Amino acid sequence: MADSHADPIVQVRGLRNSFGDQVIHDGLDLDVRRGEILGVVGGSGTGKSVLMRSIIGLQTPDAGDITVFGESTIGREETEAIEIRKRWGVLFQGGALFSTLTVAENVEVPLREFYRDLDPTLMAEIASYKVVMTGLAAEAGPKYPAELSGGMKKRAGLARALALDPELLFLDEPTAGLDPIGAAAFDGLTKSLQKTLGLTVFLITHDLDTLYAICDRIAVLADKKVIAVGTIDELLALDHPWIQEYFKGPRGRAAENARDALQGENDTGAAAREEQNPTELTTRQRAGDPAAQVPENTARTS
Ligand SMILES: Nc1ncnc2c1ncn2[C@@H]1O[C@H](COP(=O)(O)OP(=O)(O)O)[C@@H](O)[C@H]1O
Ligand SMILES: [Mg+2]
Repeated sequence: MADSHADPIVQVRGLRNSFGDQVIHDGLDLDVRRGEILGVVGGSGTGKSVLMRSIIGLQTPDAGDITVFGESTIGREETEAIEIRKRWGVLFQGGALFSTLTVAENVEVPLREFYRDLDPTLMAEIASYKVVMTGLAAEAGPKYPAELSGGMKKRAGLARALALDPELLFLDEPTAGLDPIGAAAFDGLTKSLQKTLGLTVFLITHDLDTLYAICDRIAVLADKKVIAVGTIDELLALDHPWIQEYFKGPRGRAAENARDALQGENDTGAAAREEQNPTELTTRQRAGDPAAQVPENTARTS
């Protein structure tokens, strides 16, 4: 899966960002490998969203180099950057849909932006396909965002991010604000789409369950840079105080136990779950999380 280490899809070197006197990033380096789900974690305000905005060219850094698909995204003219912007999709933090547009119309927004001459019937077909792909019923297409639940809104936002068949998907806190069942279902959907569509995913989250459930590697933002990148087990071997506190605190331990329970279940069947001490399960599992049980089945991609 994540095999082209020498050819990262995203490469960030020596990134520096500041707002006035406040330095957010200084000497930040990061690679995102083709085909991986890279989780990006860090305390609130450490600059996760600013990092994502820098990568996609919405925030011009003070210094540093950023390439996506081998091309610089810094200081590019709108028109010049179109060819690479087409190749990624973004679900912003909060995932705001246009409230005056239906779900289908929201999904059509990027299609209209990048393919102005597309036949309206084809556009509607593509939108409807993306809506269903994210696990929404086709009937959700003509609905307005106000008529949707939180989880459905996130799926609609994801459908919009997938409108252009991106190779690279940016998700900023996609499960924030969802209940545990909705969050786990969204994780399952992300993983399933990553596999079936061969996506590379840059996933900002502070949801430990998400990190354990679907991330191949995790990048930790602290002290204005990426202080470590690796699998959870690799990160746990480091003695950085934030990392230890984050992964070894009560919530980290619960998420770890949940992963182990799931792995046991995959190996030995559902009996493993019966034997789990309920106090060791995460909130999601206590809530009967369906996606944790069948992570591959949440996306109806056919
Ligand atoms: N446009 C902006 N103008 C001024 N300060 C900003 C701007 N965007 C973000 N910041 C500040 O940069 C820091 C990092 O923000 P952000 O990347 O949103 O954090 P997070 O890691 O929580 O996503 C915060 O202190 C935030 O207040
Ligand atoms: Mg943020």
